[in-house]
Amino acid sequence: MTELRGARIILRDKRIDDAEKDYQWRSDPELARLDAAIPLTMSFERYLKLLEDQLKYPTPGSHHYSIDAIDNGDSGGLFIGNCMYYDLDTVNKEAELGIVIGNRDHWNGGYGFDAVTTLLEHLFDTRELKRVYLHTLAWNSRAQRSFGNSGFQPQKPVRRMAHDFLLMEVLRDDWYADAEKRRAIGSKYKVKDGSQTLPSSRTSAG
Ligand SMILES: CC(C)(COP(=O)(O)OP(=O)(O)OC[C@H]1O[C@@H](n2cnc3c(N)ncnc32)[C@H](O)[C@@H]1OP(=O)(O)O)[C@@H](O)C(=O)NCCC(=O)NCCS
Repeated sequence: MTELRGARIILRDKRIDDAEKDYQWRSDPELARLDAAIPLTMSFERYLKLLEDQLKYPTPGSHHYSIDAIDNGDSGGLFIGNCMYYDLDTVNKEAELGIVIGNRDHWNGGYGFDAVTTLLEHLFDTRELKRVYLHTLAWNSRAQRSFGNSGFQPQKPVRRMAHDFLLMEVLRDDWYADAEKRRAIGSKYKVKDGSQTLPSSRTSAG
C-alpha cells in the first residue's frame, strides 16, 4: 500500500473503483490526443477486466498511482488523474515518468506540478534514481511548462510512432540543487486548508 503525499494531492495505489473515471478519460478524444494515444473503443466490462488483471499482475519496473486532490474541502480526496513511472532501469538508475490529469477542472492549478514533484521526490529519495525522463508532444506547451516547473529540462526532439515529441529529463544533482526554486514555485499555488507545505512526501512503499 503506497501513499505519497504532496501539498495538495496524494498519490495512492490504483483501485478497482477508479475504473469508471479511468474508462471515461481514456475514451476521451482530446485527452488521447494530448497523450499521443488512441481513444478506447472497448466496452467498459472489457476495460474493467483488464484493470483487474493489471492490479493483480503489475508490470515489473512500473508503478501506477492515482492522483487524489486533497484540497477540495471534502473529507476524502477527489480522484483527478493518474501519474506513473515505468521502464525502471535499476542498473542505470533511471525511469520514465507519465501523467494525465483527466479532470479538466483541475488543469492549470498546479496539481500536475505537485503530482510530478511528489513522484520525483520519491524516485530520487527512496528509489535513489540518477535520472528521470519523459516524452511529451512537441506542441504540448502547458505540459512542458508544468514539467519545467518540476525541474525537467528539454533535451532533444524525438520522432516516434508518427509523432514529434520533446525528450525532457531531470538529473539527481540538479533536483537537489533546485529545491529552493521548486519551493518558491509551489508556494504560488493556493493550499486551501493552509496546513501543508512542499515538499512533504510520505511513503510506505512503491
Ligand atoms: C499536462 C498536465 C499534467 C499539467 O498539469 P496542470 O496541473 O494542468 O499544470 P500546472 O498547473 O502544473 O502547470 C501548467 C503551466 O502551464 C501554463 N500554461 C497553461 N496553458 C499554457 C499554454 N497554452 N502554453 C504555455 N503554458 C501554458 C500555466 O500557466 C502553468 O504555468 P505557471 O504555473 O508557471 O504559470 C495536465 O494539464 C494534463 O494532464 N493535461 C492533459 C493530458 C496531458 O497533456 N498530459 C501530458 C502528457 S505528456
